[in-house]
Amino acid sequence: MTQELLYDPLEPATLEDPYPLYAEMRDKAPVLWHPQMKSWILTRYRDCRNVLRDHDLFARDRRRVGEEIPEFRQSLQSLDPPEQGPLRSLLMNSLHSRDLDGIGVGARQQIAAIFERLAEREVFDFMSEIAAPIALTITADLIGVQEPDLQAYVAISEGIAQRMDAGLRPEAAALGDAARRELNQLVDRWFADVERPGLLNDVRRSAPRVDVPDYYIRNTTGVMFNASYGTVFATAGNVMSTFLHRPGALEQLRDERLLTTGVDELIRFDGPAQGTTRVATRRTMIGDTVIEPRQLVLTLMAAANRDPEQFATPDELVLDRSPNQHLGFGWGPHSCVGALFGRIAIRELIVGLHAAPTTLRLAGEPTRRRTATVRCIDVLPVTFRN
Ligand code: HEM
Repeated sequence: MTQELLYDPLEPATLEDPYPLYAEMRDKAPVLWHPQMKSWILTRYRDCRNVLRDHDLFARDRRRVGEEIPEFRQSLQSLDPPEQGPLRSLLMNSLHSRDLDGIGVGARQQIAAIFERLAEREVFDFMSEIAAPIALTITADLIGVQEPDLQAYVAISEGIAQRMDAGLRPEAAALGDAARRELNQLVDRWFADVERPGLLNDVRRSAPRVDVPDYYIRNTTGVMFNASYGTVFATAGNVMSTFLHRPGALEQLRDERLLTTGVDELIRFDGPAQGTTRVATRRTMIGDTVIEPRQLVLTLMAAANRDPEQFATPDELVLDRSPNQHLGFGWGPHSCVGALFGRIAIRELIVGLHAAPTTLRLAGEPTRRRTATVRCIDVLPVTFRN
């Protein structure tokens, strides 16, 4: 009976607000078989975290179950420990040696300049006028590359986001792969360009110490760029939407002590990363369900983040929530390498909103992107006018 529960993430009501359905899935079918995605779907916190932690049993690297991965898609994301270790350490060390706060301050100035320019506009779209340029500028600063053309990059990023839904929409695979190739070409141009301070430079210098082919380094650079741009863009929109629907929250965050816990709570509450997939390397059980080798398991982190067994009052935004071990940045060996920077970016957006001459207000009906893996607003009409 439980298997009759229908989970269609692209259905308009679910795209708008997936959380009631996630609650039903957690209660009635926490390990649900999805025939179209040919995958088990997990919605309970404990199950999701266990799978993400156990890279031996649940692989990211599909070559471990005999699948082939084309060269252009092999990167940090497609490797599991122990092979993944040196590449991941290289990135983490490079990231942590960068002046992340300095990049954040740059973002704050950029936000102030954009707000000044938009102050007199009747209505404007928060996503294209604020979230996209800021996400692109801070990402290019962090990686240390010339900022690509915004419109051209948006197309690449959207293609890659669609690709993540290929289990649901197989036609997205070819478009996504074309976008990935374009991104790789961009990366080749960055590698050929003059050296600038940034992550790319560190990676280029340290690469000889890492025992992986050159294309891993290049593809991983693209993955970093896109992971940063795409998630900061989507998170900024989700956070802004939360503020527009809960006006008190932004005000409360003027209290510096709430900023750190508040940023994490905003990501737990409505983060962009809905789920991620692993493949079972051996026969195993989740609860009383048998998982066969080579079967896919989709951990819905966004559902886990509202699990009442882990979070008290999970459907409420509790800005001082602590502890808050949410899965919004993933968990285990593939958890987000850019989490620290992601948090700084969102903090700077909040500080920028506080410094704005007036509060932004909703000025029309927002629309959502039709993507399941990434929860993202498409158009968010806002105004500074009262
Ligand atoms: C608020 C912003 C962000 C959110 C919500 C976020 C979320 C996530 C999540 C959920 C994962 C795990 C995916 C999985 O297990 O399949 C992940 C991985 C990753 N993130 Fe982020 N991210 C953010 C910002 C960033 C930034 C700024 C960067 C780059 C500087 C970045 C780079 C990466 C990379 C490279 C991975 C793959 C790690 C691996 O596979 O080992 N992310 N992110």
